Amino acid sequence: MAIPFFSLDLKKIDFLTIIRDIFFPWNKSKKVTKVISTLEKRYPNRKICLLPSGRLGLYLSLKYLFKKGDEIIFSSMSFPLYVKIAKQLELKVRLVDVSNKDLNIDVNKIEEQINRNTKGIVVTHLFGNPCDIYKIKNICERKNLKLIEDCAQSFNSKINDIETGNFGDVGIVSTSLLKIPTTLSGGILILKDQELHSKIINWVEMNISDNFILKFKLLIKILLSILNSYPAIYSILSDKIFIFLKSYNPRIYRKILYSGMGMKNDLYNPKERPALSKFQLTIGLSQLNRCEEMNKIRKEYSQLIQTNLEKNKNIIVVNDHFKDNYNHQYFVIFIKKNFREIYEKLFKSGIHVMDENVWDCTKYGFEIENNHENFTVTKNFDGKLLRIQNNSLLKKNQIEKICKKIVDASN
Ligand SMILES: Cc1ncc(COP(=O)(O)O)c(C=O)c1O
Repeated sequence: MAIPFFSLDLKKIDFLTIIRDIFFPWNKSKKVTKVISTLEKRYPNRKICLLPSGRLGLYLSLKYLFKKGDEIIFSSMSFPLYVKIAKQLELKVRLVDVSNKDLNIDVNKIEEQINRNTKGIVVTHLFGNPCDIYKIKNICERKNLKLIEDCAQSFNSKINDIETGNFGDVGIVSTSLLKIPTTLSGGILILKDQELHSKIINWVEMNISDNFILKFKLLIKILLSILNSYPAIYSILSDKIFIFLKSYNPRIYRKILYSGMGMKNDLYNPKERPALSKFQLTIGLSQLNRCEEMNKIRKEYSQLIQTNLEKNKNIIVVNDHFKDNYNHQYFVIFIKKNFREIYEKLFKSGIHVMDENVWDCTKYGFEIENNHENFTVTKNFDGKLLRIQNNSLLKKNQIEKICKKIVDASN
């Protein structure tokens, strides 16, 4: 039986509420208030905005915080669509290489990229591992820069017991299908400034619709993702199709796999997704309530995986899952030698791990102000990172099977 790349951890009651809310979609605003008040406990002194995606949160933040020609710093390993959006808004982009220790922005290299046009920094808490945020905040305060935290992968990750998203002027969480917590597509914007919050709420009210066709398409995608979450169903429904495409049409296979990256069209369309439906808010609430429970299972599994894999000389576990500040949403390993071979072997043996080769922002042809630099750490890691499925829906014996197959493939 094949084990899919990702699984949505939903309970029976979630299925019932999805059906109920699809047929009785009224009173959505009550749900919005409930989700927002739950989130406000995590982000005190911040204003919250629920959106159809994290990317829309970045688009609107950049649009209202900066003006054309302003320079923004990103880490060279971050979400490429975010750099594309910055360029679309006619901002200038500088990249800073990542640190060897956690693949987050290298704090010691930030200041050399700051000049009088620099107006902001976007930091990504990559793979859920928090950045060196106090040092970054200090630089931002000294240089009068806006700080945006990309918390798409770091919900519930903490620094000195304070959750990521509480440090910057803006925090952006993704609640897409692949994230935890999920609203089955969506995003959370965490804002320090009341005025920015009002502007964004206004924009959303004027521009984001309840378009039936968009909602229907999303519903189909959600249903397929739910079904594909279960190894038994995935093995019947998708496994063979993926194996076929991978061998005979790798381009289409890649397109399907990375469709969420938003890189296929020339321009990002901020109106591409419909407003959140009531059932998405209900699922979001259920996920928020189960956050600690799911985190605990992921922690147990990730420690098991780490213990099994770190003995192997060809593997480096990227994050230390025995640390407590971490949400264990991503389990990523660095493979020193024979990456492709190992990846193919795993795929054939039914362990559909994810080739994390999308984060190097230097390779997409964006016009970057400091393009001439080497970004050595990014280049060294790119193409050798493998994401292992570590989801609370999976059973312990499935996690053990994944470990065994990885060790076998690496020997
Ligand atoms: C690091 C990172 N930033 C941003 C995003 C974008 O989030 P969304 O898909 O909700 O727009 C993602 C989604 O995969 C991500 O992994």
